[in-house]
This record gives sequence, C-alpha cells and structure tokens, in this order.
Amino acid sequence: MIEAFETRRFEEVSSTQDVARELLSAGLSSLPVAVIAKAQTKGRGRYDRTWHSPEGGLYMTMVMKPQRPQDVWSQISYITGISMAEAILQLDPSVGVKLKWVNDIIIQSKKAGGILLELDNNHLLVGVGINLKRSDALSQYNGVALNEVASGVDAERLSASFLKRFVYNYNIWVSSGFEPIRSLWLRMAQGVGKGVVVRFKDSEENGTFIGVDETGQLQLLQDDNNIKLISAGELYFGS
Ligand code: BTN
Repeated sequence: MIEAFETRRFEEVSSTQDVARELLSAGLSSLPVAVIAKAQTKGRGRYDRTWHSPEGGLYMTMVMKPQRPQDVWSQISYITGISMAEAILQLDPSVGVKLKWVNDIIIQSKKAGGILLELDNNHLLVGVGINLKRSDALSQYNGVALNEVASGVDAERLSASFLKRFVYNYNIWVSSGFEPIRSLWLRMAQGVGKGVVVRFKDSEENGTFIGVDETGQLQLLQDDNNIKLISAGELYFGS
C-alpha cells in the first residue's frame, strides 16, 4: 500500500522520464516520487515518438517499485488510465473521457493524453502526458487539448487530483488484484465490440476487440472464432 507521492516540481526539463532516471541513479531515499514539469524540451511517447510538451500541459513521471511481481507491472497502465479519467471527471463532470487500449486517454474520439511505462533498475517509471492547451502539433495525430472541451482544468489541479485517484486505485490493485481494475477500465473503454486492427512493428492482426483478460491482455476475436491474446501493439478502429 502507498499513502501519497512525494512530488518534485521543475520548470522545464528534457523529459520527466530522464529526470526520474537521474533521481533514481543518484539514490532516492523514499518512494513513490512524482516528477512534474511545466514543459519538456525532449518529451517522448511510445515507439520513440516525440511528445510535444509546451508549457501549460501536464507532464509527469511516477517513480515506484510496485508491491507485486514484475510480470504484472504492465497492469499499472490500466490503473493510470482509470485514475486520469476519474481526475478529469472530478474537475469537469461534463467531459466524456474514454480509455483506448492500453495507453491512451481519449476525449471526443481524439487523443488527449498518453501513458508511457519504462523500467529502470527494477523500478517502474510511469510517464503521463496530458494536452491542456491547443497547439499545432495536435493536428498531426488527431489530438485534442483538454481546455478545448473542459473548463477550469489546469495542470496543477489535475495532477493533484490524479495522484489521489492513483493512490486509491493502486491500493485496490495491491489488496485485491487486477479484477476490480479490469472491470473499471472496461466501463471506460473505447470500442469494445468493434472491429479493429492491432498493429505491431512489422505486422498486424484484424478482429473484434471483445475485452481484456484477467492478466490485462487484449482479447481479439478472429474470423476463425479463435480468441487471440495480445499484450502489446497499437489499436486502430475500422471505419
Ligand atoms: C504516448 O502516448 O505515446 C505516451 C506519451 C507519454 C508522454 C509523457 S509526458 C511525461 C513523460 N515524459 C516523457 O517524455 N514522456 C512521458
């Protein structure tokens, strides 16, 4: 169980993931720690993409050593997604937030934020980025900024609210396992029952996205009626 995150705040950094690594290698006396920056010059997303990080957005890396075996640490993506959706709804209940498997926060069918999990020296770095202000970069990937659709949301309030929800949901996971998290996540999931393409580095799979299993793998129903389990890949919805 954890009680709260110690926060370390910065004006501008290369990437909060890098700062988290530096803090870890210098030795952190207590965990968990949340590294929060107002802007990033080298923010990164999954698949080595750039994460455009102008001032005003939320850029955070949580440094932690989860109290469950390392083979289930990827389930923390689900905890992070749920907690961010709950935090956004707490600040503006009128926003329709959805979660796209497994790392995207979606508003009005557009990407409002993403999650990046990295391992460093047996610790987990959970990066979360949320677009708050409109910028040209968002049109490059069908992105949306929270302030285009919500009122009164700023990075400070959002991060505080998010961290509280994260602690709460994380503790449920530690005490009761993945099942309650899975069912919360499925209630907010985008596109369950829809036809999808899951893309990997050099290949792809087609099928119907029917849910996630008890370990967190995506369940893809294929034409031959087999259910393929997928642990990583990018999901695209058919038109
Ligand atoms: C993605 O959708 O590809 C994940 C984006 C993750 C961005 C966050 S912002 C805070 C942290 N620092 C980074 O450089 N990346 C993550």
